[in-house]
Amino acid sequence: MNETDSDSLVLGIDIGGTGIKASTVNINSSKLTGKHLKVPTPQPSTPEAILSGINKILSELNWKGPIGSGFPGVIKKGRVFTAANLSKEWIGINIENEFKEFTSNKVAIINDADAAGLAEMKFGAGAEYYRHKGGVVLMVTLGTGIGSALFVDGHLVHNTEFGHIEIDGIDAEKRAATVHKEREDLSWKEWGARVNKYLRTMENLLSPDVFIVGGGVSESSERFFPFINVNAKIVPAQMGNDAGIVGAALAIENQFN
Ligand code: BGC
Repeated sequence: MNETDSDSLVLGIDIGGTGIKASTVNINSSKLTGKHLKVPTPQPSTPEAILSGINKILSELNWKGPIGSGFPGVIKKGRVFTAANLSKEWIGINIENEFKEFTSNKVAIINDADAAGLAEMKFGAGAEYYRHKGGVVLMVTLGTGIGSALFVDGHLVHNTEFGHIEIDGIDAEKRAATVHKEREDLSWKEWGARVNKYLRTMENLLSPDVFIVGGGVSESSERFFPFINVNAKIVPAQMGNDAGIVGAALAIENQFN
């Protein structure tokens, strides 16, 4: 590995409602390098439990370099403002400062869907829009919750939280997140209709040029895209489950400015 390669290595961590994933990422190529670790999110998902899990991952990887992490809530200047699918004890914690206990190197914390969006825009389904710096791109991640990442002319509008738009008086993610397909044993058609209603609502509000649909379920897009009827172009995410890790690592680039 030459010097430039090692300078581009960042540990990307994706903290999710059900799992925590980590890998070193070459932020110039988006490639994961070395060991890829995945552990279940501790329950209850308190800051102590999750931070100690991350500490273990870091010792296992023996990582001392920069760290970028995605977190499933609103993050401003490293501080957690919301945590819909994790312990509420997270609210108010400066997660960036907590991570600084683990490394003397750079740390960047970003909303998990924003992270996935950055990865897709730079290296995946949104690359064309990123290159031209034109248009409105809305990435939605379907998983334990619904995450959103909005790009306007190539710029990320952080912390949009469109998974919590109310539709018929109900928080959208409580109906259309993937977890509800599983919990309520919905067919692809039934669940697809919910996703359709969600995307049509977003389309009425934002008129995006393209929707990028991410989350693990995007690998089965052919099963539910037939039930989606929107005017915008709709594409599945291309980076699969790695998008969250790669995008979290990319967040470090802002820290170098
Ligand atoms: C959270 C978002 C997060 C999304 C996906 C939502 O419940 O409020 O911040 O991006 O879940 O994890």
